[in-house]
Amino acid sequence: MGYDHMVEDEKKEMRAMEEKILSAVGMGREETPQVSDEALLALARAAMERSYSPYSRYPVGAALLCADGRVYQGCNIENASFSATNCAERTAFFKAVYDGCYDFAAIAVVGGPAGKPVQAQDEPSGPCGVCRQVMQEFCGPDFEIHMQKAGGGVFTVKLPELLPFGFTKDSMEA
Ligand code: THU
Repeated sequence: MGYDHMVEDEKKEMRAMEEKILSAVGMGREETPQVSDEALLALARAAMERSYSPYSRYPVGAALLCADGRVYQGCNIENASFSATNCAERTAFFKAVYDGCYDFAAIAVVGGPAGKPVQAQDEPSGPCGVCRQVMQEFCGPDFEIHMQKAGGGVFTVKLPELLPFGFTKDSMEA
């Protein structure tokens, strides 16, 4: 409901209507189930199993947590024409947006070279630049990114740390 209203005022009006309906049936947004960081990472790890990465042999899985508690999983999907590859993060975002989810809380991303043991002290690399830009489109400064190389340590950062001075729709206003 309301997700086809992209004009800010209309969006606000539709959101207010959603709140009214949710509270009428006894459901506040704040009462939606919470998903722990560990559970989100486990879902990202499970999503790695779906990776189609015959070229890089670098499977990646992502689990994207929406503000309402829904979780969307994604994996990297490669292509013989390499530039047509889609990262795990964008797969998860595009599935969520298709479903009408526009409020995001966090994403967990797990990846690493297939078959290579990862040491706990290994620092994971962050999401690629294109995925950072997709996050910037849909997420606020409190959006959290949990990163883990399969079996290694977990690093958590917020979006502005990944993409300082990011380009947004506000940047385009005259
Ligand atoms: N990849 C992701 O899916 N997410 C990232 O954060 C970094 C890279 C994918 C793209 C490609 O399929 C493989 O990992 C190696 O670059």
